Amino acid sequence: MNRFEGRTALISAAATGLGEAGALRLAREGARVTIWDRDQAALDEAQRKAATEGLELAVDAVDMLDREAIEAATARLIERDGRLDVLVNNIGGSLRVPFRFLEQTDDDWDRVINVNITACVWTTRAAIPHMRKAGYGRIINMGSKAGRFGSLFAGAPYSASKGAMQAFTLQLAQEFGPDGITCNSICPGAIITERVDRFLNERHTPEERQRIVDSIPVRRQGRAEDVAAAVAYLASEEAGFVTGATLDINGGQAMSI
Ligand SMILES: NC(=O)c1ccc[n+]([C@@H]2O[C@H](COP(=O)([O-])OP(=O)(O)OC[C@H]3O[C@@H](n4cnc5c(N)ncnc54)[C@H](O)[C@@H]3O)[C@@H](O)[C@H]2O)c1
Repeated sequence: MNRFEGRTALISAAATGLGEAGALRLAREGARVTIWDRDQAALDEAQRKAATEGLELAVDAVDMLDREAIEAATARLIERDGRLDVLVNNIGGSLRVPFRFLEQTDDDWDRVINVNITACVWTTRAAIPHMRKAGYGRIINMGSKAGRFGSLFAGAPYSASKGAMQAFTLQLAQEFGPDGITCNSICPGAIITERVDRFLNERHTPEERQRIVDSIPVRRQGRAEDVAAAVAYLASEEAGFVTGATLDINGGQAMSI
């Protein structure tokens, strides 16, 4: 399939993990994909990995805690590609702050909110004028099961900031629908990337991990490709009547009507 021929996409914090998987998936389907990350070595490695499949990823080293760096990187992208059709606000994480609420500091809260919300607000603000001009855009916000159902290991700042991303999604969907821009969110449960595997091993015994898998209706943990497939759908033209939606990707571990 070449669903994204002629389309450009930006995925933030995407040198590794779910962002990288989404980038490769969109590139395989014909998109011109740019990934940002603050880790230059990881960007080089992602680019090298893509090249083994004959794919090209444009990379830009950006510290997304710096608004001006985000604005400058957006300007570079537009200068190079001329348009931005798809934005995946992938940056986020729990930053290993203490799990227990009473052990968290103001600094823990600030850091988690900045990386999960503020960086996405800045990126979206830089991107939307270009989408508006084109009368077309697909914004995909990376939420989390934690933002809808709470987390067993990530703590309140992460759950609260992912919940805020849900509300942000609805507001953008409402405000920019008339401009041809959709905005949806994806809410993965635990997806086994290298980092998450290490983290779960620190916070759970093997028996606890097995019990969790046994509680998931599809009886397996998530893979980065599960998320990438959802990104590709919501980024596609054919998802044009879907906006303000939340797509849970958790094997049925948490469900709601
Ligand atoms: N993996 C999961 O199980 C899971 C589950 C639910 C939601 N999510 C969400 O999906 C998204 C991706 O998660 P992941 O597990 O793939 O992440 P990851 O931790 O594997 O990758 C994060 C990337 O972000 C980069 N990064 C961190 N801070 C940055 C900054 N200030 N500027 C630029 N780049 C920066 C890192 O260098 C790294 O390459 C996040 O929003 C996360 O909250 C992940």
